[in-house]
Amino acid sequence: MKDKIEKIQAEIEAYRAEQPEQAEAFRLKYLTKKGVIPSLFGEFKNIPPEQKKEFGKILNGLKQKAEQKYRELKEAVDRKSDQLTDDIDLTLPADFMPTGSRHPISIVRNQMIDIFKRIGFTVYTGPEIEDDWHNFSALNFVEDHPARDMQDTFFIEKDPDILLRTHTSSAQIRAMQQTQPPIRQIYPGRVFRNEAISARSHCIFHQIEGLYVDENVSFVDLKQTLYYFAKEFYGQDVQVRFRPSYFPFTEPSAEMDVSCFLCGGKGCKICKHTGWVEILGCGMVDPNVLSNCNINPEKYTGFAFGIGIERTTMVKYQIEDIRLFFENDVRFLEQFRSVV
Ligand code: DAH
Repeated sequence: MKDKIEKIQAEIEAYRAEQPEQAEAFRLKYLTKKGVIPSLFGEFKNIPPEQKKEFGKILNGLKQKAEQKYRELKEAVDRKSDQLTDDIDLTLPADFMPTGSRHPISIVRNQMIDIFKRIGFTVYTGPEIEDDWHNFSALNFVEDHPARDMQDTFFIEKDPDILLRTHTSSAQIRAMQQTQPPIRQIYPGRVFRNEAISARSHCIFHQIEGLYVDENVSFVDLKQTLYYFAKEFYGQDVQVRFRPSYFPFTEPSAEMDVSCFLCGGKGCKICKHTGWVEILGCGMVDPNVLSNCNINPEKYTGFAFGIGIERTTMVKYQIEDIRLFFENDVRFLEQFRSVV
């Protein structure tokens, strides 16, 4: 028994710990309930009574030594790990963490929505699959209008005609059918046209339609609203001009240009050396369209506009090929990481 105790004592003295786990291993081996020292105490009952006093002393001494040793080991490893923490240089640049980014079309769409929301427009979206009436007839397109042509429209079914909407103007029809004025809404969404894909045009693109119908809405309201939009979107120095145009669903109709924000109007590649960039179509809602939706054109007037999101985004970020928006090339998309 004595030899055994001496051997254990030597082991304890020689024990070294570099890591916290090694200090813990010491505690588990010697000090826990089933550890070496408590089991020695278990053997105490086999010791002849006349030796009990001496052995009791030795065992207690061993136990105290082991506890003391454990405290020292623990203190040493703790000190070591504190030093390690002190060695970390907090001024080093952090590891690069790749984050996702919004698609440029979403960025621009959200910016536009925010701008119109600030002046009281709410957001509503219509379906992408439409019938002929909402996409064409209710919007005053005559029966043989070229836009209904197979070349422009993706038809899903014939008689009755079901199609992929060719513009978001169909959503304003749905809104007017459901609500009486005042209506002040925008309709963002995807539209589809059966066009050859090239750097300038695609068969899928995005628009934001706007509609304001109430008593006494005039062309002045239209101009001021769109002027406000242009200043918020392109900057306070932007200039706008309205050119007469034609759309079946508005009368009078116009297209709005903004002064080229890249060259400030002097002429460059983006504005094709004209100093102006066309950004939207607009006009006063044709009374026929109001009647088609059971809104009294004697009482109410309204204006509408439609903005092409791809075009606006291409001009804003000088993107020369519309196909880039749909290819999901990370090298293109990650350039918009810093834009929220
Ligand atoms: N729907 C037209 C297009 O796709 C854009 C448009 C023009 C919408 C004039 C309007 C508008 O609401 O008033 O080309």
